[in-house]
Amino acid sequence: MNWKKRRYCESLSLADKATSIELSGWIDTIRDHGQLLFAHLRDITGVVQLVFDPTINASCYKTAESLRNEFTVTLTGTVLERDDDAKNPNLPTGTIEIQVDEITIHSTAKTPPFILTEKSITDDTDYSFNVDEDLRLTYRYLDLRRPSMQHKLKMRSKILKAIRDTLDSAGFYDIETPVLTKSTPEGARDYIVPSRVHPSQFYALPQSPQLFKQLLMCSGFDKYYQIVKCFRDEDLRPNRQPEFTQLDLEASFIDESFIFSLLESLMETLFELVGKSIKGPFPHITYADAMAIYGTDRPDLRFDLKMVDVTPLLKDTGYKIFNTIANRDGLIKGIKIDGLADQMSKSFLQEELAKRVVPSFGGKGMSWMKVVNGQLESNIVQFFSESEQQSLITTLSATNGDVLLFVADTNHALVNDVLGRLRLYVAEKFNLIPQNAIAPCWVTHFPLFEEKEGQLISIHHPFTAPDRDITPINSHEELLAVNSRGYDLVINGEEIGGGSIRIHDAKTQEKIFKCLGLSKAEIEEKFGWFVNALQYGTPPHGGLALGLDRLTAMLLDTESIREVIAFPKNRTASCPLTSAPSSIATNQLTELNVALENNDETANPVLTTKDIA
Ligand code: AMO
Repeated sequence: MNWKKRRYCESLSLADKATSIELSGWIDTIRDHGQLLFAHLRDITGVVQLVFDPTINASCYKTAESLRNEFTVTLTGTVLERDDDAKNPNLPTGTIEIQVDEITIHSTAKTPPFILTEKSITDDTDYSFNVDEDLRLTYRYLDLRRPSMQHKLKMRSKILKAIRDTLDSAGFYDIETPVLTKSTPEGARDYIVPSRVHPSQFYALPQSPQLFKQLLMCSGFDKYYQIVKCFRDEDLRPNRQPEFTQLDLEASFIDESFIFSLLESLMETLFELVGKSIKGPFPHITYADAMAIYGTDRPDLRFDLKMVDVTPLLKDTGYKIFNTIANRDGLIKGIKIDGLADQMSKSFLQEELAKRVVPSFGGKGMSWMKVVNGQLESNIVQFFSESEQQSLITTLSATNGDVLLFVADTNHALVNDVLGRLRLYVAEKFNLIPQNAIAPCWVTHFPLFEEKEGQLISIHHPFTAPDRDITPINSHEELLAVNSRGYDLVINGEEIGGGSIRIHDAKTQEKIFKCLGLSKAEIEEKFGWFVNALQYGTPPHGGLALGLDRLTAMLLDTESIREVIAFPKNRTASCPLTSAPSSIATNQLTELNVALENNDETANPVLTTKDIA
């Protein structure tokens, strides 16, 4: 084996015909044709066909007979042109094959638990890979041998490089921040790490580098970025991982427009890298409009189906439920589905949507109407006056063949949420989302706070600047009416990133902490170090973080973010490969001054601190 001479499969072509080359890699497939033995060799670049001919090299043929899938080998051989009828147009190296002169087996291999070869790259076979995800994750090192998985991680590497190149040229410095740190509130629970040298004390793993990047602005670095792991112990969802990667960035003496244009041009570069097109400037939509029109702060703008408020039209309607809701300050909203009247049967609308789907979204019910010959038709139209029916048709711009769906409730947020989800459900079910469409937007003008159980909480995080001076404001109502200078980058209905212009004066920062219910002592204990830093000449600054796993999954069209992470956690936040998390030895716990509540480290441990010093 001579690494200096090594060639990679896909570097080989007819230009190498009759030359002697050296290759290293894995045996991908073997076909014994009696007189000749064929195999595919796979390396990080692709595959090439090997031929072992006993009449040319008997000892090499003999070794080849012992080859099995996934053996690791190095070989030397001669590049031959394949006969015309043996050329494979599906394979980049399909015009050649390697007649092997010498082969060394470095490692044999057990039979893998699932098939690694991807036939679709070597022939026309319709290749579907249907292996249980936990089995794939248990043998992730084998799963990652599959060319399609290698492609995703190679592309991820290219995406990260393009990000670094872009930000480096824009004057950003790549600076690392601590992983063993103090809690930064981003709305999730912290992962905590007990300290051995400080008994009963804990580090928190960062939910984001938020405060450190702000300190770097205080230090005068002007423009910072980092591709960084963040840790959040939160309810699992398909697009969430307990540890995930952010592109985190921050800049000083800037406003929102700096971030918007920087990110728009970065997105243009990254989408182009994967052969897609996205063009800035991206449209802006306020949080209030997003909620009112799409029922979510992550609007999917690839399709229309806008929600329309029809409450004012129905104050006097004879349809009792709507009448009651309209007169109790409730909300009635509708969406119009173009031309699907024939495809949406009465039983689908009634039994499937109204009785099953809408209740599963938390809604109490749904009403529907179809437009037929310029008139509305449904099981309830008789309760609506002719003028009410016509104004519904006009307000929703409905025409013959359209279907109208309505959700009503006294709880406005519930109506927006349920109809917003129904909008997505219908769009997906009836393929109303144009394939390959990419629809980005900036969501802006978020409220600074929301209220939960009488308590104000930050919608972004507590370091987000309000859009006005809030130091004199004290009532909850007034505070709830204040917007923030936060913004989210949403693409195809997915939150890809979020950020804000920050608070840069200590008084406003303290005021926000107070609004969030922190006492003076708590502010001092948790954030005194940060508020203190703000008092030494802090520049106005702002930034954003992109969810890199989500963005990469979107760029590469993978269904789950786990597909673009080398070693992800599974759906229950554990790692089937290493069996993490797992219990630890009693002496380790003792050293850390941590006692398990039930004293049984094999059970699910509940950590409590115990100062045994
Ligand atoms: P935020 O909390 O919005 O902002 O996070 C930024 C982006 O990170 C992604 N993301 C996740 N991806 C995978 N798994 C998760 N559990 C997960 N949680 C978040 C999302 C999200 O938009 N410090 C601020 C940024 C700032 O203000 O500059 C922050 O972390 O795509």
